[in-house]
Amino acid sequence: MEEYKELAVLNKATMLKREKSEVLFEKAKTHFPGGVNSPVRAFKAVGGVPLFIDRGRGSHIWDVDDNEFIDYCCSWGPLILGHAHPAVLEKVKATADKGLSFGAPTALENELADLIISNHPHIEKIRFVSSGTEACMSAIRLARGHTKRNKIIKFEGCYHGHSDSVLVNAGSGLATFGISSSAGVPEAFAKETIVLPLNDMDAVKHAFDHHKHDIAAIIIEPIPANNGLLIQKREFLEFLADICAVNGSLLIFDEVISGFRVGFSGASGYYNVSPDIITFGKIIGGGLPVGAYAASADIMKSISPDGNVYQAGTLSGNPVAMAAGIAQLTECLKPWFYEELERKTKKLVKGVMEGLLPNDAFRMYHIGSIFWCVFSDNDMIRAAKDIDLLTMVKFKKFHLALLELGVYLGPSEYEVGFVSSAHTDADIDKTIKAIRQAREVAMAE
Ligand SMILES: Cc1ncc(COP(=O)(O)O)c(C=O)c1O
Repeated sequence: MEEYKELAVLNKATMLKREKSEVLFEKAKTHFPGGVNSPVRAFKAVGGVPLFIDRGRGSHIWDVDDNEFIDYCCSWGPLILGHAHPAVLEKVKATADKGLSFGAPTALENELADLIISNHPHIEKIRFVSSGTEACMSAIRLARGHTKRNKIIKFEGCYHGHSDSVLVNAGSGLATFGISSSAGVPEAFAKETIVLPLNDMDAVKHAFDHHKHDIAAIIIEPIPANNGLLIQKREFLEFLADICAVNGSLLIFDEVISGFRVGFSGASGYYNVSPDIITFGKIIGGGLPVGAYAASADIMKSISPDGNVYQAGTLSGNPVAMAAGIAQLTECLKPWFYEELERKTKKLVKGVMEGLLPNDAFRMYHIGSIFWCVFSDNDMIRAAKDIDLLTMVKFKKFHLALLELGVYLGPSEYEVGFVSSAHTDADIDKTIKAIRQAREVAMAE
């Protein structure tokens, strides 16, 4: 069967059954804009009907047509233990048995907060919310309220959810105001956001020269992973911390992806750079909807009901979601957890890149267990502008070939992949072979 599949891919014949997904997608289009509840799921960048997933177990998922895949999307990052991890399921089920939500405090909120704060060097207080978007939106409001300033700096190629302040593109000059990137975001809001290129200290200095007393915060994904994997130098992150400190602005690390991913204390621990506020999402909720923002006790005292920055949530700190987070993060704290993830990811990248020549236009990078495949001969892409948009055509073929070969990646060249603790060495070996083969298919013409 394996041989047959390989042959089919090289002949570019599509073997993947999608009949049931097709029927479901037609129905979904009658219910939801574009047939989906989050745009990237629509497979627009790679074409074809999105696969409707039936179930997941460990590192594998099965779609409704019973195609089986090794999954590297992992629900876009939260599933660091893979699908349906027994410890997470057990705790979630036991908690759900006692009731799903009370809108009143539970001991589980304390338990998850203890677990995080006592194992993280850079935070003293935390507030749980229900998504990464909410976490970033609230962190920005906190920074504005705390500093009594309005403007924020963000970077091209970083994503911080879909709140008004961050759906903004760069304006015409480096220190000028942003332009809203979505209909429905008033230009008056976009004007409060300055959008700069990553990895560019001069641009940041220039913005501070012009708006010194107005900048409440810089927000950055310290490991930008939403526009490919644009790994920043430690010095750049340290520079951001310094320039914020000197100017009375706050540095927000958006660790919705990197938090608990490149180590328990995320990118701030990995680089040993201390931001003022950190946002979390994804892994913190064990696969259920949780986000959080955290900072020093002094900064957090600006939050309501202690302070006058208002933020609230009906399902914030939901017991079932807290239970999933506790179970997942407890596993992450076990000895050698992150070393083992990194070993497997290194093996994957090394296996794929083995024998490739410098001018072969394909690269695979990783940091911790986050990886990215890109059709480029650039050894380290650090800014969004350096990604060649024309390579999307190649990625489309690559993605389809990988599906044929039983490997599921996020459906866009901009998306990174995630290795979980459930991925086995056998999965990695199979994936190396599949990626190498899919790359050949994509580069064939
Ligand atoms: C870095 C980052 N911040 C914020 C968000 C928004 O999180 P959510 O989708 O949970 O609202 C995302 C989502 O992918 C993200 O990657």
